[in-house]
Amino acid sequence: MDDSVEAENRPLLVLTNRQPYSHRYTGDGIESTRSEGGLVTALDSVLQTTGGEWVAWGSAAADFDPSVVSADGELELPPDDPSYTLERVELDRRQVDDFYRGYSNQVLWPLFHSHIDRVNVEPTFWEGYREVNARFTDEIVDRDTSRIWVHDYHFLLVPEMLTDRISGQSRIVSFVHIPWPPAEIFDICPHSEQLLEGVLASDHVGFHTASYRENFLRCVERQFPASTVDRESGEIGHRSSETGTSTFVQPVGIYPDEVAARADSPSASASWRALSNQHGLCETPIVVGVDRLDYTKGITKRLDALASLWERHPEYREAFVYVQKATKSRSDIDEYRDYQHEVREQVHRLNDRFATDDWQPIVYIDESLPYEDILGLYRHADVGVVSSTRDGMNLVALEFVAASRGTESALVVSEFAGAAETLAPDALTVNPFDVEALGDAIVEAVTMPAPEKANRTATLQESVAGVSAGRWLEENLDRLLE
Ligand code: G6P
Repeated sequence: MDDSVEAENRPLLVLTNRQPYSHRYTGDGIESTRSEGGLVTALDSVLQTTGGEWVAWGSAAADFDPSVVSADGELELPPDDPSYTLERVELDRRQVDDFYRGYSNQVLWPLFHSHIDRVNVEPTFWEGYREVNARFTDEIVDRDTSRIWVHDYHFLLVPEMLTDRISGQSRIVSFVHIPWPPAEIFDICPHSEQLLEGVLASDHVGFHTASYRENFLRCVERQFPASTVDRESGEIGHRSSETGTSTFVQPVGIYPDEVAARADSPSASASWRALSNQHGLCETPIVVGVDRLDYTKGITKRLDALASLWERHPEYREAFVYVQKATKSRSDIDEYRDYQHEVREQVHRLNDRFATDDWQPIVYIDESLPYEDILGLYRHADVGVVSSTRDGMNLVALEFVAASRGTESALVVSEFAGAAETLAPDALTVNPFDVEALGDAIVEAVTMPAPEKANRTATLQESVAGVSAGRWLEENLDRLLE
């Protein structure tokens, strides 16, 4: 890309697969609700400041009154005080099957999370992925923008497709929100070369951790021995262009002050009281896990760990209740439906096996809860557990700490979650594949002596206060404006 691109005042364009708001036509007009989740929260606040355009997958036509949506389907957002536009790109059923359910979530997702046994390469998936990346490129290419910010694994080919057509008129920055896998794993992908070419056409690529960036640099070296890779600066020279790389250990989407305030709000407290009354949670320590029902979250390993613990140490039965809040995700993919079923069955089995007259070992909540209620749950829990087998960052770990401000609690976090880099050693880090060690870490957290808990809590609070989505954004915007 051309380094002489000026950071002139043309608007910023953001590309994500998910939309920032969900929309419903109510008869009086369109009701828009902001989607929760780190990525969307953070980017929504940037665009509210900078103005610009957001392009995402969604239907503009089907469920809305055509009289309140412009002819081309653009929406002005946020609804109360519009400052940017959302352009939704509609995909047909086959495209959704091949691009989203197929290549994105049955090839790239398992591959990048090192679950190679789950990678399912169907020829139509790749064709669909290319086609939809090209479709989004078409949507962006004629827009009047000087800075294009491409997010995540859904659009790895877009930077190259764009570069071929805009020849240096806009600066393209990519951010990969999931891990970049080790080169030996990435090589398994039959399209590894095309994917790397796609990403390398960005002016800059951001990763959450140093090890993901290191993996990316090694992939480039192996695939393109003629390229130059400067480990120190992260600069890559490939063909006739330069690509910068950097790590942003700041999490996207966590504003600790806001999380702490919402966790302590009257509605969060009321919801916690209702939940604890419903499940009789007042007396016993609470251990909590909050996850999308995704195999990368290691929920079955966590349940195995609890079973092993209560088996090996009957004295820890009745010592705490484990609350699992689970959110259905990607349910129209078989693997995900199977996983949902597996988790639910495993919870039932454990409850049947270990329950006593006075104690239900696991409370399983799979209905959707407002974000405030989840923050209230974090705040009143004694221990949070994150046991991902691999995770780009994991905001739950950070939110758990932020929501617990002013209380004392302990956190167990997988060493394979990006967040462990920020939170170790004050969180108990653990290898989730070692189920006995995971069970022991949960007990250690539950029974942690008060002075140790106070010390760890204080440092965890400091670590989380020092990281903020605001800083992630600032650093990213610097790259965009360079
Ligand atoms: C991860 C990805 C996001 C994605 C989210 C939910 O966090 O990095 O890009 O949006 O999972 O997955 P979904 O398929 O429901 O969008």
